[in-house]
Amino acid sequence: MTNILCIGAGYVGGSTMPVFASHCPEDRFVIVDINPARIAAWQSDQLPIYEPGLEEIVQQTRGKNLFFSTEVNRHIAEADIIFVSVNTPTKTFGHGAGRAADLQFWEKTARQIVENSTSSKIVVEKSTLPVRTAEAMERILNSNGKGLFFDVLSNPEFLAEGTAIRDMQNPDRVLVGGRETPSGRKAVEKLVELYARWVPRERIITTNLWSSELSKLVANAFLAQRISSINSISAVCEKTEADVSEVANAIGRDARIGSRFLQASVGFGGSCFKKDILNLVYLCEHYGLPEVARYWEQVVLMNEYQEARFASNMVASMFNTVAGKRIALFGAAFKAHTSDTRESPALAVCRALLEERAEIVITDPYALDNACEDLKDLGGRITYEIDPYAAAKNAHAIAILTEWPQYAQLDYERIYQSMTKPAFLFDGRNLLNHKKLYELGFNVYAIGKPALTRLVNQGIVAA
Ligand code: UDX
Ligand code: UDX
Repeated sequence: MTNILCIGAGYVGGSTMPVFASHCPEDRFVIVDINPARIAAWQSDQLPIYEPGLEEIVQQTRGKNLFFSTEVNRHIAEADIIFVSVNTPTKTFGHGAGRAADLQFWEKTARQIVENSTSSKIVVEKSTLPVRTAEAMERILNSNGKGLFFDVLSNPEFLAEGTAIRDMQNPDRVLVGGRETPSGRKAVEKLVELYARWVPRERIITTNLWSSELSKLVANAFLAQRISSINSISAVCEKTEADVSEVANAIGRDARIGSRFLQASVGFGGSCFKKDILNLVYLCEHYGLPEVARYWEQVVLMNEYQEARFASNMVASMFNTVAGKRIALFGAAFKAHTSDTRESPALAVCRALLEERAEIVITDPYALDNACEDLKDLGGRITYEIDPYAAAKNAHAIAILTEWPQYAQLDYERIYQSMTKPAFLFDGRNLLNHKKLYELGFNVYAIGKPALTRLVNQGIVAA
């Protein structure tokens, strides 16, 4: 039996360890966290994060070979392998503020491991970290004065929210980076064996430590870059009457390009893309590579441009003023099937419209609490409404900001009837049937498509 510990019961630790536990019934998994409320939630029927399939796996394994605890020190002492998945947010202070990763929790955890260990261990970086963090980790861990030796591995996480369990059960690949020493190779093999219980060996890639650390940042940078690339083309489409969906389909059918992650949108959000790209930018600057830094920074700048462009298009289309106009934002989450609003483009659009003194009402099936928390600095200037029909009532415009499938099923005739005319619909996710909406009477603006506008108010169709 191997004793496996995970420090950090957040999204990453909380969705990976239960899957491990279900595939390795003879091993023992403990997840610890400094936050007692979080651990209590993991021990209850109301788990702290929502992921399809997670609850079932936790129910199967909890109390058998999966345990949650706040006793960090005791479990460090017992562990053979320690995964570290504490958070590494962007620094908000000092050198590298706004770009570099804040490693204070990380270093504190390394020191805690040293203090409480009485045997040699394998320590696995699960959090996303700057390249060469493992070196610092090794130095802290191996200056222990107790004769203990720690192997440090990098095993980055590629889970996407909403499909985390599926991604972990059936990954495209698993990446394990380690030192090319006999001890390092042995440690890599140990972790590979754990994954090999359910992942085919050919999908488990082993590399040196630095390649592994860097690959995590690069994977997210490339994914985000595809979105910024297609979004930049959406601006060209809107000027030329090309249709971005047709362009994406035409280029995506080339197997060398591939069709995924070419959905033009109001922008990408989520806790990882921006943070990891800025981390890469900082790394490039640190190593004296300003041209490389600027290249990747542009992916983030293009995303900010897309969000700002969407909001200013709204204002321009609505006769250059939205002051005092009720505007319903459909969706606050950064993507569908999550309540997560971190870096959500919906919030950026909301702030831009408030600057123009619009009257904003936000609706979302799951993310209203988080949106309210994120926008609390704006006080009472926003209304939150769970029912999209109520949100749209008397509104001048609707903006689709999250691709919730339920928004495609609404009765838009009823919505149109309840709105102020002329009624505008801005589809930031290209989710709806634009022609049908136009026929109902809406002025329709989508991303990267010719606008369907009416020359005359209220239902008189301009051919
Ligand atoms: C986090 C990072 O955001 C991501 O970059 C990294 O790849 C993995 O860790 P996530 O699991 O989503 O991802 O973060 P979060 O939900 O904030 O969870 C981190 C947990 O670590 C929190 O529950 C926090 O209480 C805990 N923690 C933090 C500790 O247990 N000890 C610490 O010293 C600091
Ligand atoms: C991402 C990576 O996919 C995952 O591998 C990594 O471990 C963490 O970061 P996540 O942030 O959960 O996962 O979401 P993802 O599905 O990648 O979407 C990110 C953002 O891009 C969302 O706002 C989404 O709406 C947007 N997006 C995605 C587009 O605008 N167009 C697309 O074609 C795809």
